[in-house]
Amino acid sequence: SKEEMEQRVRKIKADLGTKLFIPGHHYQKDEVIQFADAVGDSLQLAQISAKNKAAEYIVFCGVHFMAETADILTTDEQTVILPDMRAGCSMADMADIHQTERAWGKLQQLFGNTIIPLTYVNSTASIKAFVGRHGGATVTSSNAHKMVEWGFTQKERILFLPDQHLGRNTACDLGVGLDEMAVWDPHKDELIFDGSIEKIKVILWKGHCSVHENFTVENIKEVREQYPEMKIIVHPECRREVVELSDDNGSTKYIIEAIQKAEPGTSWAIGTEMNLVKRIIHDHPDKKIISLNQNMCPCLTMNRIDLPHLLWSLENIVEGKENNIIKVDAETSKYSILALERMLERA
Ligand code: 13P
Ligand code: SF4
Repeated sequence: SKEEMEQRVRKIKADLGTKLFIPGHHYQKDEVIQFADAVGDSLQLAQISAKNKAAEYIVFCGVHFMAETADILTTDEQTVILPDMRAGCSMADMADIHQTERAWGKLQQLFGNTIIPLTYVNSTASIKAFVGRHGGATVTSSNAHKMVEWGFTQKERILFLPDQHLGRNTACDLGVGLDEMAVWDPHKDELIFDGSIEKIKVILWKGHCSVHENFTVENIKEVREQYPEMKIIVHPECRREVVELSDDNGSTKYIIEAIQKAEPGTSWAIGTEMNLVKRIIHDHPDKKIISLNQNMCPCLTMNRIDLPHLLWSLENIVEGKENNIIKVDAETSKYSILALERMLERA
């Protein structure tokens, strides 16, 4: 039963003590988050993992790229485990290293040595290593502005991987015009742009988050009609039109804090992942809160980490047969750490 499983997890956690560390992303289910030693967004979890030198086992409740980042930032003696290997991220999978190498070759032909690559942390370790090798850095939704500004101090142009929406929304906020942005289509190996090629400052990789793309202009119209007084706040992984029509936008951490700061009695429609929206609703009974898409939008891969998988991972550790170890090879680690450190120094 659920209670038995919870009891087992509690017992193993108590037995292993500081040998075990469980980071949990805000989008994880409550049944898992209740056991997390730290809850945070992707940047916070990367920073916390980097600081924790005591834990022998890091059982990462999040998705594959987050566990990879934790492995890159921790020591060789620490073992990172992902409770379900199917917990990937469709956005990270949209930029593969071969496509990226091909794109880079073509972009060098078009623009010469004027481009710096930046990648959202929601990307594979190979992409982070590619970016690190070419002088670039990682970014997350909570420091994207700062990192894009930094990018422009290094080079005239930025290649932003793999989320076109976070890239476009950030560049727009910094005053880059839509006619100064192009989109790289990795399936057609083609640069898509409207104006003149000389004007291009930001090249957006054609990737997206399938969860945040579910929030639409139609949803905004419905909310505005039904609840005229309601404020709309969305994650910058949403499309440009959606972000533009919203009252506010920001990272997971920003959204949580915005609702915390809001006056009692105010009402909010939130455009982000379902588990987090549910938790915010639960934590703020004094405010009216709904999901911007009233169907709620779960991240199916985040949800693969559940109580049975968490327990299974922990029992494996106890029995000395750890499974689902996330190990980034030394060469990839060496370069991806450069990209991560360039961000962590500035974030
Ligand atoms: P943040 O945690 O950086 O807001 O990212 C959101 C996300 O989609 C994580 O997968
Ligand atoms: Fe990937 Fe989107 Fe899920 Fe985050 S919410 S893990 S970006 S698919």
